[in-house]
Amino acid sequence: MSNSLFERIGGNDAVSAAVDIFYTKVISDDHINSFFEGVDMQKQMRKMKSFLSYAFGADTPFHGKSMRVAHERLVKNGLNDSHFDAVKNHIDTTLKELSVAQPLIDEVLAITESTRNDILNK
Ligand code: HEM
Repeated sequence: MSNSLFERIGGNDAVSAAVDIFYTKVISDDHINSFFEGVDMQKQMRKMKSFLSYAFGADTPFHGKSMRVAHERLVKNGLNDSHFDAVKNHIDTTLKELSVAQPLIDEVLAITESTRNDILNK
């Protein structure tokens, strides 16, 4: 795993801290928080940590659903680009708050962007 984005960003502790801050922002955002109604947020945060670690090149596998399947129900309920942009923006500001270096933030945002079509079922 040497030199993976996961390692360069600070490993488990950094991903964990980022996901905690990120979901506080998501839940406070009236544009998107209705999608999380009834969702077990402790479980959700665990899944997100696991997915991001995997997406950033950690050695750990991700056993969750594909991004397309995980968000299918949400797309039926109106999930669109504006919601995706809001989530992406919360990722950006979370990493800035954690003083992550801009080139690393750019890498994270590029990985995030690469999931857009799957998440929005395009
Ligand atoms: C930006 C990129 C995104 C990533 C990387 C991502 C990642 C994930 C992951 C890993 C899961 C869990 C999958 C599983 O159950 O195995 C999930 C589920 C979920 N995501 Fe996302 N997501 C993204 C965008 C969004 C957006 C834009 C919304 C809504 C505004 C959203 C709302 C949800 C909800 C509500 C669930 C739970 C669905 C359920 O339990 O039925 N996600 N997401």
